Amino acid sequence: MTRKTKIVIFIVLIGLLLLIPIPFKLKDGGSIKFKSALYEITKVHKLNSNAESGYDNGLIIKIFGIKIFDNVKESKKVEGNITSNYKSINFDLDKKEVTLNSGYVMPLNGLGTYSLTGDTCYEAVSSALNSGVRLIDTAYMYGNEEEIGRAIRDSKVPREEIFVITKIYPSQYDNPESAIELALKKLDIDYIDMMLLHHPGTNDVKAYKEMEKYVESGKICSLGLSNWYIEELEDFLPKVSIKPALVQNEIHPYYQENDVIPYIQNLDIVVQGWYPFGGRGYTSELLNNETLVKIAKNHNVSAAQVILRWNLQKGVVVIPGSSNPKHIKENTDIYSFKLTDAEMRQINALDRNEKHDWY
Ligand SMILES: NC(=O)c1ccc[n+]([C@@H]2O[C@H](COP(=O)([O-])OP(=O)(O)OC[C@H]3O[C@@H](n4cnc5c(N)ncnc54)[C@H](OP(=O)(O)O)[C@@H]3O)[C@@H](O)[C@H]2O)c1
Repeated sequence: MTRKTKIVIFIVLIGLLLLIPIPFKLKDGGSIKFKSALYEITKVHKLNSNAESGYDNGLIIKIFGIKIFDNVKESKKVEGNITSNYKSINFDLDKKEVTLNSGYVMPLNGLGTYSLTGDTCYEAVSSALNSGVRLIDTAYMYGNEEEIGRAIRDSKVPREEIFVITKIYPSQYDNPESAIELALKKLDIDYIDMMLLHHPGTNDVKAYKEMEKYVESGKICSLGLSNWYIEELEDFLPKVSIKPALVQNEIHPYYQENDVIPYIQNLDIVVQGWYPFGGRGYTSELLNNETLVKIAKNHNVSAAQVILRWNLQKGVVVIPGSSNPKHIKENTDIYSFKLTDAEMRQINALDRNEKHDWY
């Protein structure tokens, strides 16, 4: 190696050391700091000092420790509702089902299949169907539609009793017809009960319009969206013909979407929550939360069941993920107890606006 090459490598290494940031998660809720030797960027997302009133949100940028940008503002805390806000949707806790704005009936609890693949996925879906679960949530992105289709075909449960949701991914939006055909082929269960757009993205309206054609032909029954919030819905809804029947978003006691849920429900669009237990890596902290454990003891159930029941009482459909037959069964047993209004408020008060995934 020549002396010149060594000097270049040295300069590049020093440059990288100065520029590449290391992320740190701060212990105050959702704040994250990206720090390099040269600069630091803090994405602030924490309860403000007057914890009851709201959150501090924004960015702080420092170069050599000197603050050059700070737009942190306080946002108001929204106290969560303790009932649902649908206008004419029948969210029926006795029948354990909801009649969607598309006219189809959907169960209030299901199995989420993110990160379940191969035999584990097949066994989890079979176990869920044996435990009485009739709603299965999957996606092109999860890479498990084939296993799910096979478990459904192999089960003794009639196809029409099972409600299958799948999603197409933004990378597929420029050719939605082939994305939909692929989902139909992989699942191989005659029709898809509901198809969602997984995230907002380029060509999302085009993809949705293609899904509308499949509703007309009867290959898809209902349509919905995932990871759409108020602004995105305001922009999207006027551009499509079939109103979405459902929006699936991240919802758990630490990230409650208390402003978004009533907005969506007021449109008579059913809300479905993903990561009910906070998602993998966060479940133990959430399921051991003192308030939830105490409420669980009051009803002789688990903290997991309390979270699911809290969702249901707010009119939110639940799709907990599990590959453990005991948990799958436990997650269906959420109709024989009722949280009091005071307990609902205690859980609402746990909100930290702490998102556990990027979308
Ligand atoms: N639309 C989107 O962008 C999006 C994003 C993420 C997820 N999702 C959907 O939402 C579903 C739910 O999310 P998730 O599965 O990632 O996370 P989750 O439901 O919040 O948590 C799943 C974890 O909880 C554990 N668990 C389940 N039941 C339990 C119980 N009764 N007691 C104790 N632990 C329990 C599971 O472990 P065991 O396997 O041991 O039970 C698993 O580790 C996904 O499967 C997917 O269908 C959608």
